Amino acid sequence: MKIIGSYPKTRLRRLRKSPWMRNLVSENNISSNDLILPIFVREGKNKVEKIRSMPGINRYSIDKLPLILNQVKKYKIPMVAIFPNTPNFKKDELGSEALNPNNLVCRSLRLIKKRFPKIGTMCDVALDPYTSHGHDGIIIKNKIDNDETIKILKKQALLQAKMGCDVIAPSDMMDGRVGAIRKALDNEKFFDISILSYAVKYASNFYGPFREAVGSRSKLKKDKKTYQMDYRNTFDSFREVGFDLKEGADMIIVKPGMFYLDIIQKIKNNFSVPIIAYQVSGEYSLLKNAIQKKILNPDSAIESILSFKRAGACAIISYFAIDIAKIIKSN
Ligand code: PBG
Repeated sequence: MKIIGSYPKTRLRRLRKSPWMRNLVSENNISSNDLILPIFVREGKNKVEKIRSMPGINRYSIDKLPLILNQVKKYKIPMVAIFPNTPNFKKDELGSEALNPNNLVCRSLRLIKKRFPKIGTMCDVALDPYTSHGHDGIIIKNKIDNDETIKILKKQALLQAKMGCDVIAPSDMMDGRVGAIRKALDNEKFFDISILSYAVKYASNFYGPFREAVGSRSKLKKDKKTYQMDYRNTFDSFREVGFDLKEGADMIIVKPGMFYLDIIQKIKNNFSVPIIAYQVSGEYSLLKNAIQKKILNPDSAIESILSFKRAGACAIISYFAIDIAKIIKSN
């Protein structure tokens, strides 16, 4: 890139002298349209339960979901992602509860579609909230079995589609699952349901608080490194995105977010597909803790979200979504 001009003829501070001037020349902006809020649901009635590992975030029983959905509506957040905290007694080796039409996710979808029809819904396709071992797939001969897992994932995706899910988000990292899910959806004429693939998902240490939120952390004996990506790699992410696009993904996720801005930018430069960044639980909790303790000021959340836009993401999945939307509205 060519740098033109020099001091004193050019003074870069001229474009920074007032808020209106800075707004005029800003290259990136964040609006509530760019935010996706993850929501945790639990069993029971009249429950709004704090999550120890995620300050400011709760698990809601289905009857209490309107509390948070009213906020989503008020602050014009376009889509929510539903994550279940499945009770232990419903977990098994095969994650069977994933296919129960009355599981937490299905009940949440029905409530949202009925009472908040304008809010978009996104659901993970993966078995970890439902398995007794906390893995995203099923274990056969001591391995997470790719092809047998896909058979279940297809059914899980179809069930979510039938319940009114708008965006199916496979987060399991099995090879070939996007193609299999697209085919299953098309066979049932769900042509308009989109697939947002967690194409680039690293085996990260920053998912810890989320795993506590859904209750899979204490179950998980080993890490997920045989299926999630190695964080030392970049090329792998191109292959993942390329395959998923060929298989029919409409949008892709890069996850985690803040430590992977280089990956977002490189994918942006190499593929024409909407990229959604996931600012994951560990990233959120670090920042939120510091904000609550007044070590950082609240605008640091905005700065973190804006960095995803600069890198090339069109939207961000973030536990800060409501906090950010509030700040935007008050400005
Ligand atoms: C499950 C899933 C995970 C996250 C989203 N979907 C955890 C994992 O893969 O272990 C992490 C989200 C977060 O940390 O905020 N497949």
